[in-house]
Amino acid sequence: MFSRQQIIQPVALDINQIVSNTGKMLRRLIKENIGLDVILEPNLDLVSADPGQIEQVILNLVVNARDALPKGGKLTIQTRNVRMENDFGQAGASTLPGRFVLLEVTDTGTGMDQETQTHIFEPFFTTKAVGKGTGLGLATVYGIVKQNNGRIEVKSMVGRGSSFKVYLPAVKHAVLTRTSAKYTGSPNFSEETILVAEDAKPLRDLICEVLSGYGCTVLTACNVEEALQIGRGRKATIDLLLTDVVMPGMNGTALANEIRSLHPETKVLYMTGHSGTFIRADMLNQDVSLIRKPFTPGELGRKIRKMLPGKLGESSRAGACPKENAAAQRESGA
Ligand SMILES: Nc1ncnc2c1ncn2[C@@H]1O[C@H](COP(=O)(O)OP(=O)(O)OP(=O)(O)O)[C@@H](O)[C@H]1O
Ligand SMILES: [Mg+2]
Repeated sequence: MFSRQQIIQPVALDINQIVSNTGKMLRRLIKENIGLDVILEPNLDLVSADPGQIEQVILNLVVNARDALPKGGKLTIQTRNVRMENDFGQAGASTLPGRFVLLEVTDTGTGMDQETQTHIFEPFFTTKAVGKGTGLGLATVYGIVKQNNGRIEVKSMVGRGSSFKVYLPAVKHAVLTRTSAKYTGSPNFSEETILVAEDAKPLRDLICEVLSGYGCTVLTACNVEEALQIGRGRKATIDLLLTDVVMPGMNGTALANEIRSLHPETKVLYMTGHSGTFIRADMLNQDVSLIRKPFTPGELGRKIRKMLPGKLGESSRAGACPKENAAAQRESGA
């Protein structure tokens, strides 16, 4: 995933809401030969967790399930209230003893043998081809679950499929009723074109998956030269350039200037990693913004949505609005 270290903001959270909000994106991530069933328990108890982290858990489990279904099959996401005698969580003042929220992701895919199952939560353990998996997905999930005093269980059989169960302690509604004001769910896009320039392949791949999942058209470049080639070759609009500030060859700001000289309509979103990277505040404006790594899929989507409001009305009116900004008109004229 994007990163294993992050500042977390636990709030009282309805996991059903996160599953619903990410549902559209998840459907786009999986192919048509995979049936997606979402079964949500009504009146699901709340948990205390960071919404971005729960998004990451769901996304990692679903992408793994998808990868285990190369020939298609069934993928199920389910939530349930459960009671357990054995309280494994660290009971806190706000938790309800013995009550947990279960988030389960099941697939009818390839499954795993016993030996594989003993290693899956180790960082960098992967059975995927070089360049396909980094082996950090489940390690990240494990870290998040532990951090939230929860538990994760896996059941799998070769040739039959796998099930991942995440249990998180339920919290008292009265104690924590605040849902994050910042968290407003996954954004919708209508094929906005995003040029992604990022030299780290795992991050680049994941950003592409996420943005494609949201409905963006994604162009990818692994270095500045490739990004410039795409910029020069493309006649139609590039709505946004998402670039690392520091890249081999030329820095992100120089790349942004070049792209904007070719495509004046292009907005720029810089990704910064280290506190050392430096962007002058006066370089940022309505068309140029900044997102700090690590960021979650939702944060990235919402940030881009905010920068590109013109193409689509509110997300609830997805598809109903004509393209109305100047850039879009130029595109239709091209
Ligand atoms: N649903 C699943 N079905 C079968 N095997 C799985 C499933 N989920 C995980 N695995 C196995 O566990 C390994 C580790 O998973 P993990 O998500 O940590 O890494 P990855 O998917 O290989 O790479 P990354 O998530 O970093 O892109 C996978 O390579 C795969 O062998
Ligand atoms: Mg994975």
